[in-house]
Formats: sequence, structure tokens, C-alpha cells
Amino acid sequence: MGLKPNFHQLDVSDINSINTFCDYLQNKYGGLDVLINNAAIAYKNSATEPFGEQAENTMRVNYFNLLDVCHSLFPLLRPHARVVNVSSSMGHLTKIPDQEIRNQFASSSLTEEKLSELVNQFIRLAKKDEHTKYGWPNSSYSVSKVAVSALTIIQQRAFDQDSREDLVVNSVHPGYVKTDMTSWGGHFTAERGAEAPVYLALLGPNISSPKGSYVWHDKKIVDWVHGPTPEAF
Ligand SMILES: NC(=O)c1ccc[n+]([C@@H]2O[C@H](COP(=O)([O-])OP(=O)(O)OC[C@H]3O[C@@H](n4cnc5c(N)ncnc54)[C@H](OP(=O)(O)O)[C@@H]3O)[C@@H](O)[C@H]2O)c1
Repeated sequence: MGLKPNFHQLDVSDINSINTFCDYLQNKYGGLDVLINNAAIAYKNSATEPFGEQAENTMRVNYFNLLDVCHSLFPLLRPHARVVNVSSSMGHLTKIPDQEIRNQFASSSLTEEKLSELVNQFIRLAKKDEHTKYGWPNSSYSVSKVAVSALTIIQQRAFDQDSREDLVVNSVHPGYVKTDMTSWGGHFTAERGAEAPVYLALLGPNISSPKGSYVWHDKKIVDWVHGPTPEAF
């Protein structure tokens, strides 16, 4: 297509790496128009690490490090910037069995601090192997993506109060995609998986929707709290 994309090293688990990337963007471009938070990890079902360790590492990379990237890069966002948080079908709120925990995730007064505390509660219980007893799912990946979608709603609320015009963030389920994460077992090619994230990254100026939404791979908005999700994947 004649485009000339550049790349820059970034380890989202290393705050120095995030800050180096942020300085590079600031110095070279003076701002940022599009941010897609795609980096994530998922333990395989066959992983032998204790569940508590898996929970801590998964929450760190998929939620806390995504938050670190946002804290560093959001000041660079220019008016009309688009942010896409890559979630998952596993990030639908109904993946959390307990109604009271779901209520906390869905609360309109949820803040980043309260959300991080909820995530830490899950990690503490996972380390004692008591997470299912207290109404959490037996999937760290699922909790991490629920947290990413909850964070997206909080972030859009902040964007709506921001002095910069028309900042939009959405979370997206890209589909079940053939990648390392799925051991190449998905239905979609990477190109097909990129369709909805790219659509959200390129939303036109001053759109009213989707904003702070949970978007399916077919670009339709899914009710994150009540569902239903269109299909298993
Ligand atoms: N594949 C699916 O069916 C599916 C379904 C729903 C959602 N998703 C989501 O889609 C996104 C992409 O997943 P994928 O299937 O492409 O997974 P993948 O094949 O495992 O790729 C994950 C990517 O994240 C990067 N990453 C991991 N840790 C990082 C770190 N600390 N710093 C920077 N980059 C890091 C990896 O970089 P390196 O290669 O350099 O390690 C890799 O490029 C993820 O958010 C995933 O949860 C995937």
C-alpha cells in the first residue's frame, strides 16, 4: 500500500522501556493519534506453574502493565485520538460467576484505584487457591480481560471530562485468531483478527458511538454487563 510503518522496541513490563518509548514519541512526533494496547500473555492449559503465580503474572502484564502504558502515553494523546484496548470474549463480565463481584466491576462509581484493588483481591485469593470459593472464575486470563474492559469504561468517562476534544477508547474482542496464543488453533487469520481493532483505531471525528464500548469482532457493540455475547468466540 506504499505505507512505511516504523517500529520501536517496547517492553510493557519495564517502566524504563515505556518511558523511553514515550520520550521518543514526544520528541519525534510531539503527540499520539492512535494507541492499540495489544500486548498480553496467556498461560496454556498444560502450564505447570502454580495458579497463584499464573494469576500474578497474567494480571501484571495484561492489566497493570497496560495501565502503566496508558498513564505514560495518555498525556501525549492529541484531540480526536483513538485508543483500543484489546480484550477478549473471555473479558465479558458474565465470565465472573459471582453477582456481587460483577456489580463491583459494573459500578458507575468504579475508579482505577478500586478496579486495581479488585484485581489484587483476586490475586490474593488465587495464591491461597480460594478464588473459586469466593466467586471468581478459574481463569486468570478471563479476569485480566474483564479488568481491561472495565478499565475502558473508566477511561472513557475521564476522556469525556478531558479538555482535549473527542478522545475515544473502546475494548474489543478480535475473534478467535490463529496465533501463538491459541497454538494456531483459531478460526481467523491475523488480518481478519485485526479488522475490528483497526476499525476502532480509525473511527472518524466526533462520532457518538462506539465510545467506552465492548465491541465484537464483527464491529457490533455488545452489552458488556448483560450480554449475551453473539457466539462462543
Ligand atoms: N488469538 C486469539 O484468539 C485472541 C482472542 C481474543 C483476544 N486476543 C488478544 O489479542 C491480543 C493479541 O494476542 P495474540 O493472539 O496475537 O497473542 P500472541 O500470539 O501470544 O502475541 C502476544 C503479543 O504480545 C506481546 N507481548 C507480550 N508481553 C509483552 C511485553 N511485556 N511487552 C511488549 N509486548 C508483549 C508479544 O510480543 P513478543 O512476540 O515480542 O513476545 C506478542 O507480540 C492479546 O491482547 C490477546 O489477549 C487474542
